[in-house]
Amino acid sequence: MAQPHAITQALWTVVGEGAIGLLSAARLHLAGYRVQLHRRNPGIFNFAFQSAAHSQQLSLPSQIQLPYSYILLPVKAYAVLDAIKQLFPLLADNAQLVLSHNGMGTIEQILPLLKPEQGLWFLSTSHGAFKPEDATVIHSGVGQSVLGALNQAAFAQQTAVEQAMQAALGPLVVLEDIWPALWQKLAVNAVINPLTALHQCKNGELSNSKYTAAIELLIEEFVLVAKASAQDFSIEAIQSRVAQVTRQTADNYSSMQQDFAKGRRSELDYITGFLLKQAEQHQLQLPAHQAIYQLLLQKSPR
Ligand code: PAF
Repeated sequence: MAQPHAITQALWTVVGEGAIGLLSAARLHLAGYRVQLHRRNPGIFNFAFQSAAHSQQLSLPSQIQLPYSYILLPVKAYAVLDAIKQLFPLLADNAQLVLSHNGMGTIEQILPLLKPEQGLWFLSTSHGAFKPEDATVIHSGVGQSVLGALNQAAFAQQTAVEQAMQAALGPLVVLEDIWPALWQKLAVNAVINPLTALHQCKNGELSNSKYTAAIELLIEEFVLVAKASAQDFSIEAIQSRVAQVTRQTADNYSSMQQDFAKGRRSELDYITGFLLKQAEQHQLQLPAHQAIYQLLLQKSPR
């Protein structure tokens, strides 16, 4: 996709070497953007990028140019705050930061830390990517993304950020208010992820009638706490969204199932844990989410 000269000249810094990070970096690079990676080890990073349309070897530099003006931060929710604290001295006074992860709770942590001209965005994506090894990323599922600005400073560079994110993880829908989309994604993650992690099964297994009652309870409680947090959803709307994602990703293992299977830290605190914190603030009880949280906490790596 051809991009206007001035915008493709912007240098994007992609933080981390996760699958979505490398996928975005590769797609930005192939669309003509200047891209560098922020990694622990500086130098050139060589990796293979495979998708239905492309299979090629890419070489991207790390940390060649400071300060960072445009930053995409697709790191797990629990790693966002530390990553941002580490990045702070490297950020331009008018830097634009794009967060992208499962779960919620980071936006509230980051917004108060930013300078008045630093913009914050959130991008939620359904693109699927995985790394069979450290230096290979495979674009396994073509998806789409939603993007929303989270503070006033973000609007100052709206076109530049939107065009780049279109190239990185489009097709993209830019939302005036991204919060309902984040809550809806949270609903899906708060049902599919903990259940598949607990039962160590593929997403599609949740269509089995033995899970119906548990799913119903989790959804009813979600709708209750979302409403108290000013997000109105009907039980039916969430049920049909969860059923749709379960069908569409039937053959996949959820990210949380994989984290538990591999003994890695999971996003439980930013998915179920986030819901429980919201419930506490509104003096609500969520017994089904509480029970699954406790069970998974016992199985979590210390
Ligand atoms: O976390 C995940 O794995 C995904 O967000 C989802 C939608 C549950 C599909 O597996």
